[in-house]
Amino acid sequence: MIELNYSNMMEEVIGANGMAVNMLEGMRGRVSGLHGQFSERTLKEFAFLDLPGKDTSEIRRIAQEVRNDSDAFLVLGIGGSALGPRAILEALSPLHNLKQGPKIFIYDNVDPGTMRHILSVVDLKRTTVNVISKSGSTAETAASFMVLWDRMKTIHGNNASKRFIATTDPVSGALRKLATEEGIRTLPVDPLIGGRYSVLTPVGLLLAEVAGIESQDLLSGADQVNNACSDEDLWKNPVYLFSILLYLMATEEKRGINVMIPYADSLKYLSEWFCQLWAESLGKNGSGMTPYPSVGTTDQHSQLQLWMEGPEDKVITFIRVNDYGKDITIPRVFEKYESMSYLSGHGLSALIKAEQESTELALAKKGKPNMTISIPAIDAYHIGQLFMFFEIATAFTGLLLNINPFNQPGVEEGKKYTYGMMGRKGFEDRKQEVEAARKKKTRWKV
Ligand code: PA5
Repeated sequence: MIELNYSNMMEEVIGANGMAVNMLEGMRGRVSGLHGQFSERTLKEFAFLDLPGKDTSEIRRIAQEVRNDSDAFLVLGIGGSALGPRAILEALSPLHNLKQGPKIFIYDNVDPGTMRHILSVVDLKRTTVNVISKSGSTAETAASFMVLWDRMKTIHGNNASKRFIATTDPVSGALRKLATEEGIRTLPVDPLIGGRYSVLTPVGLLLAEVAGIESQDLLSGADQVNNACSDEDLWKNPVYLFSILLYLMATEEKRGINVMIPYADSLKYLSEWFCQLWAESLGKNGSGMTPYPSVGTTDQHSQLQLWMEGPEDKVITFIRVNDYGKDITIPRVFEKYESMSYLSGHGLSALIKAEQESTELALAKKGKPNMTISIPAIDAYHIGQLFMFFEIATAFTGLLLNINPFNQPGVEEGKKYTYGMMGRKGFEDRKQEVEAARKKKTRWKV
């Protein structure tokens, strides 16, 4: 089980910048209320909590088809439809394309350069494209789908649809309609599950199975967190403690920047996934906390100075890995150089763990609040635990902030201007607004 150590958040340990026990005690009433909401599933969007019990046989069947007939698997999607799949791939099958097939590509941004590069290395004759869009109408995903559809048509003619899988709403949206008309294989995304809470649906699980990662292990880990974090008593519930500590630090202490720093390269994208979840869920009505993706030890040589001596506005969350798997021992070479030879005989894992612990301590000594989530190992089970841990924490924190953690009205606004600029019917007024705004931008430039 993952463990949360929040000692370095407490006044007793780090002094005046830390949290007093009575501040946490004071949250008991609110925690009980919210706990009731979670256990009674009072919001329909709590559906993400029930994902661990879902049947994955269809996902596994389709993944097997892909593995049998494809050398490349290309995911098209953006936001929640890309970050989760990428976090799974990078955490659980690092350097995947150099080691095994099918090679996996995730195209989210509509950068023509990236599309060109992908098209230059994949053989579309043996590529399966997984277009992921819950709404079925996101401009970026629609555009990349259209490009791939056209190319596949040229190569495969009437069989082009066999090279696609659409992951989308089970009933509504353009992608669902089109997939039905064209005979494209589909996997459903429960309409009650928002994009950024969808990693444990076919959105993330199909890629996992294609990459040879057991989706069931991801779900079992998530399930374990669901059970272990269902205690109403905040002192016994790591998810509630994580949320309350960050919430109080942001609202009472003006520490609204939340650094997420896993000590593992392969968790870098998990940290990016968390940042989207946290930012898009919590940034509303003038509230919110600012997530900041990072990776250790790399950022000790980039960001740490700022965290140690910069403004008092951050809380650092470390992710510590207890077992990195087969270790690499630093050999006994350069023995006459003391500044190097002291490392000899230690594993690289001992060094990275020592760096994590030292950084934690250095921050604590300066009174900088930080906490550590430890996972036993980087495997599907524990990655599943992290996904569920952060999803519950995000929803819980959103409710503490009295905002809706499941919508994203600000993102929708930007999408409408894009529709207008790209000539979509019904959005003509948005185009005019953009043109008027352009005129205002002529004076203040050099
Ligand atoms: O979390 C979200 O809801 C968003 O980031 C969406 O995932 C993103 O906008 C893509 O939406 P869709 O899957 O509908 O194409």
